[in-house]
Amino acid sequence: MLAIGCDHGGFELKQEVMKHLEERGVEYKDFGCFSTDSVDYSDVAKVVCDAVAGGEAEQGILVCGTGIGMSMAANKIKGIRAACCSDTFSAKFTRLHNDANVLCFGGRVVGPGLALELVDAFLDNEFEGGRHQRRIDKVMALEND
Ligand code: RB5
Repeated sequence: MLAIGCDHGGFELKQEVMKHLEERGVEYKDFGCFSTDSVDYSDVAKVVCDAVAGGEAEQGILVCGTGIGMSMAANKIKGIRAACCSDTFSAKFTRLHNDANVLCFGGRVVGPGLALELVDAFLDNEFEGGRHQRRIDKVMALEND
């Protein structure tokens, strides 16, 4: 299962992303928000990332205005490796090399066409392991500093 969430700045784009996930046959759970009413992105990042870090969801997608606030909040949560992407190369390589488990992007930055390509690049690539595992282990050890 994939956990998805947004704030008011990402609400419209999240609707497009969910439609795309349905077309792809990807099972997801929408953690809100559920309208364009103003909310704090940190609250949504927390519930989505708790689902990922706790194993309820395998991966997460977070959309706010820029993707930046969501990614900052997400990366405060233990076990989360969130990447804010606005190009497909990064969305692909953050899976291959960083084993990112949460993808963030901005509803005021990317259009729906690019956003769906970001989602595909993220979902269609797997962590390569090898030398990257050592680096990820070091990154995750920083949580305990
Ligand atoms: C909300 O106005 C906006 O600050 C938020 O969506 C996001 O862009 C924060 O990083």
